[in-house]
Amino acid sequence: MTTRRKFITETAVATAAAITALHPGTKIFGKGLHNLKNEIEPRSGSNGPVVISTWDFGIRANAVAWKILSGNGRPLDAVEKGVMVIEADPTITSVGYGGLPDRDGYVTLDACIMDELGNAGSVAFLQHIMHPVSVARLVMEKTPHVMIVGSGALEFALANGFKKMNLLTKASKEAWLKWLKESKYKPIIDRNNHDTIGMLAMDKSGNLSGSCTTSGIAFKYHGRVADSAIIGAGLFVDNEVGAATSTGLGEAVIKTAGSHLVVEEMRNGRSPEEACKAAVKRIIDKNKNYRDFQVGYIAINTKGEVGAYAISKGFQYALYKDDKNILVDSKSFI
Ligand code: GLY
Repeated sequence: MTTRRKFITETAVATAAAITALHPGTKIFGKGLHNLKNEIEPRSGSNGPVVISTWDFGIRANAVAWKILSGNGRPLDAVEKGVMVIEADPTITSVGYGGLPDRDGYVTLDACIMDELGNAGSVAFLQHIMHPVSVARLVMEKTPHVMIVGSGALEFALANGFKKMNLLTKASKEAWLKWLKESKYKPIIDRNNHDTIGMLAMDKSGNLSGSCTTSGIAFKYHGRVADSAIIGAGLFVDNEVGAATSTGLGEAVIKTAGSHLVVEEMRNGRSPEEACKAAVKRIIDKNKNYRDFQVGYIAINTKGEVGAYAISKGFQYALYKDDKNILVDSKSFI
């Protein structure tokens, strides 16, 4: 007789085998098996592929992601490879290599990633590795965990073939030394000091993935972690509803579980823009000093509709859809 436990085990093994066949290299640890339906039954009317990412540098990241999606690649590959372009660019001082250091001169990175099955991986307070988003993906695919931080994350990365390197460029070191002279050792909290890249991608079948990666607020406390490493804050993906990611002051986003809130607002029937606006409004309602900092959200729903909203004017996002990659000014509260 087939016991319930045996039936569940056999079903899970068969399901994992099916996913692995679809995506060779993906290791399944029992996460997200409930969503397999989406994996094997493409959704009609998704209007994919679509890629959306934060800020003007998102244009370059989108181009890489789009190439993957238009070659029938997986959205997870698109959001990883897309943001890697920005992680590797030393002229972008808010992400990856060349990121401005913390107040003690260390470049520490935060990143996370989610796939269409609801699987998630994250690293925080990671030093010496150029591509934290890829380490986050490996945490998701190779471990039974979601988040690995600090020296543990570095050890994990090195054990998986990542190369240790110096992420502090000459320009970022000079900026830090200048800040040390003038700052009284206080991190800068203002409207400009945080340009995280977050990316959301949908394939032709309507499957969603997202990623988010940052070096965080310049001259932050040593050990400070951004929203960009926290699933539900800097990023959330629910293949049945939509996905959202954030940029801006991570503390405000974490305290309102921002990206999760955006997705829940879409679940309750709001458009992506309305959902982003509701999450921004929540921050405004909870922070009297909201004029002193920036937060921006971008979102996508299962129809491939996108939207954004920010506290203050100036937030832009890059949208690749219908073979066009364009920069869009987000609406804002101020
Ligand atoms: N969103 C990036 C940060 O808070 O540093």
